Amino acid sequence: MTASLPCGGTPHPEVRGTSVLTLMELSPEAVGAVLDTAAALKAMPRRDWPPLLAGRMVALIFERPSTRTRVSFEVGVSHLGGHAVVLAGRDMQMGRGETVQDTAKVLSRMVDAIVLRTGPHATIAELAAQAEIPVVNGLTYDHHPCQALADALTLRERFGSLEGMRVAYVGDGNNCCISLMVVGALTGMQVVAACPPGYEPDPDAVAWADAAGRPLGGGASVVTDPRVAVADARAIYTDTWVSMGDEEDAARRRRDLDAYRIDAALLGAAAPDAVVMHPLPAHQGEEVTHEVLHGDRSAVWDQAENRIHAQAALLAHILG
Ligand code: CP
Ligand code: NVA
Repeated sequence: MTASLPCGGTPHPEVRGTSVLTLMELSPEAVGAVLDTAAALKAMPRRDWPPLLAGRMVALIFERPSTRTRVSFEVGVSHLGGHAVVLAGRDMQMGRGETVQDTAKVLSRMVDAIVLRTGPHATIAELAAQAEIPVVNGLTYDHHPCQALADALTLRERFGSLEGMRVAYVGDGNNCCISLMVVGALTGMQVVAACPPGYEPDPDAVAWADAAGRPLGGGASVVTDPRVAVADARAIYTDTWVSMGDEEDAARRRRDLDAYRIDAALLGAAAPDAVVMHPLPAHQGEEVTHEVLHGDRSAVWDQAENRIHAQAALLAHILG
């Protein structure tokens, strides 16, 4: 490394050289260090970013579509002086049956880190187990930790300390819901998810987040009534009702989740300064109305931009 982190620190020892698949690997202090670096990077013009990734190669593998994750990683790596090698899963030999194990061994000889977007979480877990270099989760069906880091950065910018802050998630208890609970636990948020029966987040993840969040004044819980979840919430968060991989079930999901839309009335039931969050892409008229998504309480564009800063900071700590 040829430069020190912009906030004056060194890479956090827990993050340096590690794979990040869920954020559960990290302590609150480590997540705080990454968010501090992200905020420091954001405060500088990108052309002035230190060359923290000079000479470093990062493979970005997408087995599912992406706009934000792909562009934000490419932009962040490039501004830190590194180089991103972007691969579509269908163009790789893995798409024709080369094993994850062999792919991991080969890429470990060629690049310094791998970011993977795939479906089954077991696939990225196997890649990380077989690779000799760090692996970062760019979304699996179960987790979206990079999105969660950007979400925490966005909330910190708006509200300062997150400890004890109530955040409501409304809709499908999917990867983004789980990762919000995980980052919430690591930053002290109280995350309450409102989901219809059958759409609750994985109970083991909720239990982990509830236990991990308590020392910081946070916690995680699930209710069925969106109005109960949003009462006193400073942020209300939603995501698509039909995640990648759920397409065959789309009609049933739209029917079952129809009462879980964020509209002006639900926003009005939250705290007066509450912001609206969504990882995007949004399905306007389904999980969120156009009016709310584009309204003055919407934080979604900041969330999207913050993917650059959060992920650049994460890679700076991992590869620093
Ligand atoms: N939020 C998010 O991960 O967006 P993309 O699917 O466009 O990467
Ligand atoms: N839950 C969504 C998030 C997309 C960024 C999905 O997995 O498709």
